[in-house]
Amino acid sequence: MLRIVVLISGRGSNMEALIRARASGDLPADIVAVISNRADAAGLATAASNGIATAVVPHRAFPDRDAFDAELARTIDAFNPGLVVLAGFMRILTPAFVSRYAGRLMNIHPSLLPAFPGLDTHERALEAGCKVHGATVHFVTAELDHGPIVAQAAVPVLHGDDADALARRVLALEHVMYPQAVAWFARNELVTENGVVRVTDPAARQLVMA
Ligand code: GRF
Repeated sequence: MLRIVVLISGRGSNMEALIRARASGDLPADIVAVISNRADAAGLATAASNGIATAVVPHRAFPDRDAFDAELARTIDAFNPGLVVLAGFMRILTPAFVSRYAGRLMNIHPSLLPAFPGLDTHERALEAGCKVHGATVHFVTAELDHGPIVAQAAVPVLHGDDADALARRVLALEHVMYPQAVAWFARNELVTENGVVRVTDPAARQLVMA
C-alpha cells in the first residue's frame, strides 16, 4: 500500500478530502502523517482526530531555507512515504528538497496552470477577465507552480463573482480532483514522458463543471 505524507500550512480542507477518500475506499493508500510548518494550522487537529500522526517543523526556527528543508526532509523520511502531497503548504521549496522527492511530490494550485502561478490567483483571474478558471494538480519541480500536469478542473467565472465566490467554486472541485489524482498515482496509472503526464486508465476524465 502506498504511504502518503501530507504537508499543510493551514485549513487543510484538501487534506480532509484525501482522508475522506481513503475512508470511503476511493484512495488505495495510507495517509501516514500530516506535517505542518505552522503549529496553529487547523488541519493538524483534523488529522489527529482521524488517528493520523502529526508533526510540526516551524520554519521560523531555522536560519535559512536549506536548514528548514533539511529538517523537513528528515521529518518526512521518518515516515518512509512513497508520495509527498502538498495541500496548501505555503513555503517555497529548495531545489535540493524538490529533487530528493522527484516524481513523488505533488501539489495542487488554484489556477489553470501555466496561467497564474504564485499567489492571489482568483483575484488575478477576475482582473484578467477570464471566463473559465480552475485548479491544477502537478508534480513539483524546482520552478514554482510549474511541473508536469496531472489533472485540471475548470469552473465558469460567473457574472458578479468576487474572489471569495470564485475560490469557493474552485475549492469544491479541488476536493474531488486531488483525491482522484492521488488515486491515479497510487494505482500506478501516471506515466510522465518529456514532461507530459499521461493517465493510463482509459476511463480517466478531467473535471469540468458547467
Ligand atoms: C487551496 O486552494 C490549494 O489549491 C492551495 O491552497 C489552498 C489550500 O486550502 N494550494 P486547504 O488548506 O486545503 O483548505
